[in-house]
Amino acid sequence: MNKEEIKNRIEELRKELNDHNYNYYVLSMPVISDFEFDRKLKELQELEKANPEFFDSSSPSQRVGSDINKAFKQVAHVYPMLSLSNTYSYEEVADFYQRVTKTLNEPFELICELKYDGTSISLTYEDGKLLRAVTRGDGEKGDDVTANVKTIRSIPLQLRGTDYPALFEMRGEILMPWEVFDDINRERELNEEPLFANPRNAASGTLKLQNPAVVASRKLDAYLYYMLGETLPSDSHIENLHKAAEWGFKISPAMQKCSTLEEVYAFLNKWDIDRKNLPVATDGVVIKVDSISQQQQLGYTAKSPRWAIAYKFQAEQAETRLNSVSFQVGRTGAVTPVANLDPVQLSGTVVKRASLHNEDIINSLDLHIGDMVYVEKGGEIIPKITGVNVAARLLLGEKVRFIQCCPECNTKLVRYEGEAAYYCPNDSSCPPQIKGRLEHFFGRNAMNIAGGTATVDLLYENGFIANVADLYAFDTKLLSRMPRWGEKSANNLKKSIEDSKQAPFENLLFALGIRFVGKTVAKKLAVAFKTMDALMTANKEELIGVDEIGDRIADSILSYFADEKNREIVERLREYGLQFSVVEEEPEARVSDILEGKNIVISGKFSKHSRDDYKKIIEQYGGTNTSSISSKTSLILAGENMGPSKLEKAKALGIEIMNEDQFLSLIGQL
Ligand code: IVH
Repeated sequence: MNKEEIKNRIEELRKELNDHNYNYYVLSMPVISDFEFDRKLKELQELEKANPEFFDSSSPSQRVGSDINKAFKQVAHVYPMLSLSNTYSYEEVADFYQRVTKTLNEPFELICELKYDGTSISLTYEDGKLLRAVTRGDGEKGDDVTANVKTIRSIPLQLRGTDYPALFEMRGEILMPWEVFDDINRERELNEEPLFANPRNAASGTLKLQNPAVVASRKLDAYLYYMLGETLPSDSHIENLHKAAEWGFKISPAMQKCSTLEEVYAFLNKWDIDRKNLPVATDGVVIKVDSISQQQQLGYTAKSPRWAIAYKFQAEQAETRLNSVSFQVGRTGAVTPVANLDPVQLSGTVVKRASLHNEDIINSLDLHIGDMVYVEKGGEIIPKITGVNVAARLLLGEKVRFIQCCPECNTKLVRYEGEAAYYCPNDSSCPPQIKGRLEHFFGRNAMNIAGGTATVDLLYENGFIANVADLYAFDTKLLSRMPRWGEKSANNLKKSIEDSKQAPFENLLFALGIRFVGKTVAKKLAVAFKTMDALMTANKEELIGVDEIGDRIADSILSYFADEKNREIVERLREYGLQFSVVEEEPEARVSDILEGKNIVISGKFSKHSRDDYKKIIEQYGGTNTSSISSKTSLILAGENMGPSKLEKAKALGIEIMNEDQFLSLIGQL
């Protein structure tokens, strides 16, 4: 190809990839497979790399994110980012309606739309290209998070069409979908990292990360809800948003023009229920005057517009008594405060315990034992205490304070800079940390040794083992003489420990319990370094060079292997014959061709086989397991709790969905 042809090909690929991003992330209607998409993206990346003169910061290749680590620049907002005044009752909504009627003294229309519960963003577009993305900050100025925002696929880098203003701003909400939130928290739980309390915190935390590559992996989404500029297409807010949709922005599908208060109430009633089926969190409805000139007539107070209000949905809440606070020490030494409550019914379950997260939250609540507290479960996993009913305080109980010393080993706790959690630093002899590490080592995703908490407690407390290496050397004959243990159970454990020597290298890496090295990170490390020796001798640059490994993880790995005690344990594990390198897997042996040519997506939870088993079964029967739904998907094997957005997409594409039994009967296993 000559330069002219290369330039044309680059432009063609950019246009195609922009269209596919739009089809996939905005319309949820992909027309090519993920594989095909990746192939085109790769071609573009290679052409751009070889021909740097055609670089364009709006190219779809720029969404992957680089590893450059720089603090955010502060940028002043052209139009201040105000908040909305909140209302909680229909009366207050009626008051708003009356105020608007009186001030305008002419007919007007309202737009009702959902209030998305994420983090707000201001996007500036110049000549159709995303120029800058800035957080709300203090309303006057915010952080320039453009590099991170570019990784969000539903935000256009280059607008479609030609009739957009030369310079304008779009405001909207960046969100973490429930499905992604749940996945990330599951992973964090596995790694004993603090959980995100809700998708809002997760989204704003993610947007502030210094590593856009990690941001890209967190799969954020965005809905845009307001256009600002000197020359807008229309005087109607909703028409401007419809235009924005034509240019490629994702706007809410739930927007409705209302002319009367009754229509507004009907919208509130409907969405208070229907919002529970949405893929993202919402916490209310925003009611806006549609006409921009009427908006200007109504004007602003110091804090919020007079032309709009937010109606907030009632969070599901209960009131109960705080009996005590306990402090739990986890495998990593992190100390978690837990509130013990009088049992209370809350949206369908009985709640007895609630998370208090950290010291700052305890202090801000000014909690006292015996207080009547409000517990909420806003869709989050763990119920949380959101306030104290001070009026119901008869006797002032003891003030709840975060402990200073480890409740298990009495070592003074430490709080690392920039972290909210306290840790017990005595990792080598604090019993719950040792037992936690042992239990983690036994785990199904780790060495898969048959035995739970009770086995670990017995082995540890009776001095059979003090660390994971001891497992491979202790005398099982002595164990068989322990109460309630016979020769048979001791032998079973011995066999299971023996079998664990064959667990893959990546499982062993995860099992070691290095801080921040979860299942996914362990796998990435295993693929990148292939052997324990290579990993142990890797320097920081080499570690950070691995996809998704940042400063924090790299430092943790370095400090793990720098510790003499850890190296000694690792060397003993090598002597006992554990897997210290990656074994290339043989493809699954063919059983039948019944699934030949079928791309199958697995989603949800199953009861007859595990997900991993189903992946193998699909290969054995000639099919291909793919991770995301596209027009190339032939079939979805759906277990329980298949995600609502997946279901919607599958239905839109007309893809066949089978449950576990239907699938097993298709391949003749039922
Ligand atoms: S309009 C001048 N529309 O709610 C105010 N805001 O409390 C323009 N929000 O900071 C905001 N959904 O982050 C608007 N459909 C929606 C919204 C929405 C969520 C957030 C936004 C804003 C906050 C106001």
